[in-house]
Amino acid sequence: MARQIMVAGNWKMNGSRDSVKVLLDGIKAGLGNVTKSAVVVCPSYVFLADVEQMIAGTIIGLGAQNLSTESAGAFTGEISASMLKDFGCQYVIVGHSERRSLYGEDDALVAQKYAVARAAGLTPILCVGETLAEREQGITEEVVARQLDAVIELEGVAALADGVIAYEPVWAIGTGMTASPEQAQDVHAFIRSRIAEHDAAVADKVQILYGGSVKGANATELFSKPDIDGGLIGGASLDAEDFLKICSAAP
Ligand code: PGA
Repeated sequence: MARQIMVAGNWKMNGSRDSVKVLLDGIKAGLGNVTKSAVVVCPSYVFLADVEQMIAGTIIGLGAQNLSTESAGAFTGEISASMLKDFGCQYVIVGHSERRSLYGEDDALVAQKYAVARAAGLTPILCVGETLAEREQGITEEVVARQLDAVIELEGVAALADGVIAYEPVWAIGTGMTASPEQAQDVHAFIRSRIAEHDAAVADKVQILYGGSVKGANATELFSKPDIDGGLIGGASLDAEDFLKICSAAP
């Protein structure tokens, strides 16, 4: 069974109420040409309510960029899974490399976030990927396997069928240095084979997105690779025209 292409925009800590409206108006105006891809946007928490309203009745799905492992209580500054559900989120990114490197999220915490999202009925988008130093040491597969195994150990391999994986080499994020389609395909195939060691059906089903300097100009080549099922898009998702180009890049 062919896997559907998904294009998810990770807006990170960008935008204002006004700019978010302009961006979404631009995206919505071009959605007619997006026939094959699932489209998701992940705004900052504070824009979720606005965006939920603005995308009503469109094909655009809503995601958050992070969540708490706690369900409620005295956790100042945190946002729970049920709050995200309340604002119409279907997706949530967990373990983005910026969360891992800047906010100290380790594999165990990321796995817990995956579990909490899944239990709430959200689709977690699990980010994995190596740093430049790790790639240069030749331990890319080891790192990605460790990040993946943390979720498999906590939740069981079947849990991966309820989520989406995003392979994002840290050295390619926001740097303009995209992994070549071959480099990305190699790691995607590794991820799928690692999952297949546990369960071939889950491996076949799970969508594995590529992230790291995806642009309108390189998306088609990336998405044409057999194990690349779309993209998690940072910078280019803030430009309606470029984002739409990526959304239309499904082969
Ligand atoms: P980028 O970010 O597209 O700006 O490289 C990707 C990401 O961090 O998800």
